[in-house]
Amino acid sequence: MIFTLLILIGGLLAIYYLIGIYNETYWKKRGITFYPKSKVLGPMGQYITSSRPLFEIFNDIYKTYSDEPVVGIGSLFNPALFVKDPVNVYHVLTADFNSFSHRGFDMNEGDILANNVVFINGDRWKLIRQKMTPLFTATKLKSMYYLMDRSAQDFVDYLNKRPELLKGNAFNTLCTFTNAAVGAAVFGIENESIFESPFLKMALSAFRPTIKFNLTFAIGSLNARLYKLLNLTIFKDHEKLFIPAIKEVIRKREELKVKKHDFADLCVNLKSKGTMKDHDSGLELQPTDELLAAQAFSFYIAGVEPTGTAMFNILVELGRNPDSLKRLHKEIDDSFEKYNNEMTYDAIQEMEYLDMVHDEALRMHPPIGYLTRQCVKDTVLPVGNVKVEKGTKIFTPIYSIHHDPKFYTNPEVFNPERFSRENSKNINNNTFMPFGEGKRLCIGIRYGTLQGKAGLVHLLRHFTVKTNIKEPGFKYSKQTIQVRPTNVDVQFIPRNH
Ligand code: HEM
Repeated sequence: MIFTLLILIGGLLAIYYLIGIYNETYWKKRGITFYPKSKVLGPMGQYITSSRPLFEIFNDIYKTYSDEPVVGIGSLFNPALFVKDPVNVYHVLTADFNSFSHRGFDMNEGDILANNVVFINGDRWKLIRQKMTPLFTATKLKSMYYLMDRSAQDFVDYLNKRPELLKGNAFNTLCTFTNAAVGAAVFGIENESIFESPFLKMALSAFRPTIKFNLTFAIGSLNARLYKLLNLTIFKDHEKLFIPAIKEVIRKREELKVKKHDFADLCVNLKSKGTMKDHDSGLELQPTDELLAAQAFSFYIAGVEPTGTAMFNILVELGRNPDSLKRLHKEIDDSFEKYNNEMTYDAIQEMEYLDMVHDEALRMHPPIGYLTRQCVKDTVLPVGNVKVEKGTKIFTPIYSIHHDPKFYTNPEVFNPERFSRENSKNINNNTFMPFGEGKRLCIGIRYGTLQGKAGLVHLLRHFTVKTNIKEPGFKYSKQTIQVRPTNVDVQFIPRNH
């Protein structure tokens, strides 16, 4: 018995070793440097077995192989490539989109809420993205601004009534606002913004790095066939809460026949038109409640936490940089005075310093640390003439490029002047991409930015901030895709006008 067990273990170890050799040889044969730590599972293997966030592991590779345009990495049986050079990154995300349109995950059919624009691929993604886009146009955003402004004003009242929230866990507190604002965009607002909603727990727990989540995410990211074979799901636990809630809001809106310019309106409109069709491929989809619920779910999971992280990091930097804080307070106060103590959509667009602070904070602390794609047809990356085969997993850095001294002098220094209207002309799109790039660029880029800014102007009109950092430099929590500092917090202090 023991002998059989030993043979089995020995066999498995030999297979593991051979997969590592295969991965290494695959890239070496093509003249590509291979990352030798964890040859089988690559950075994902290191992530699973350490307490570090995945973006930090990619950042080590980025720095170690500073002159390489790409680095081959282990990803079980799949070839996988860390594409570092910004020209190659642009090629993957934008120029050769047709070869890299896939997100890099294939969710299983039973995972109803994963059937959303973030995770689906191919013609299905194209059709759904097309149908969701009208919710995020500039005109639509203007008509939805009232929802964000209302949530932001209600948030200030909410904080004033709960002084215990002014100190301790500012990130969670800010997420109550972003959750209410995304909720308002999905469901509309009735009497007041809802800060204590069960959807907040859902949004924050969807990517919580528990052991079960990490393993499921790792298998999904490493090998689609294995993920399918094991019939794994990641969002199953949220179906019971979320699908009936969306069904009810659509029914109510159909009966009410009023326009609120939110996601529920879009659902009613899509349902009234019936079958959705992609004319190029002929693909037809029904706008079922489940399919629409999955899209709304993606706005929560992709919107609440990143916007909360962005607001948190902006405030962290303002609290550490008193001159910037003072200048922004002045810009906000002047604007409130100019517009009779109200904050309009146009007033926010006019605020140049707010924009500079926003972009610089997102450069230093992009809420998402790297992007994923998968090659869907054989192609070549221009820098290094790298041949990429169909099926290859691709990872492209955001954090590392934002912190590379080749692109930003003194990258660890918070300097909003980099993004002044004059200086930002010199910043290349390929080196600033907190919202991703290309046709799979964040669908909520304008929505998330406006929502964050609306929250910040109302907050900073009434509060100032103090940053408490425990030690020099930022430490980050173990997360799959997010960049979340853990050794820092922000305190809100009421201002006396
Ligand atoms: C500061 C806030 C936000 C940040 C930093 C952010 C960042 C990102 C990033 C990096 C991606 C991947 C893009 C790519 O692969 O090229 C993404 C995708 C996405 N984001 Fe955001 N996001 C934010 C807010 C939002 C909001 C508010 C929503 C919705 C209301 C949203 C919805 C989405 C969706 C649906 C996708 C998938 C797009 C696709 O694959 O076609 N995001 N976001």
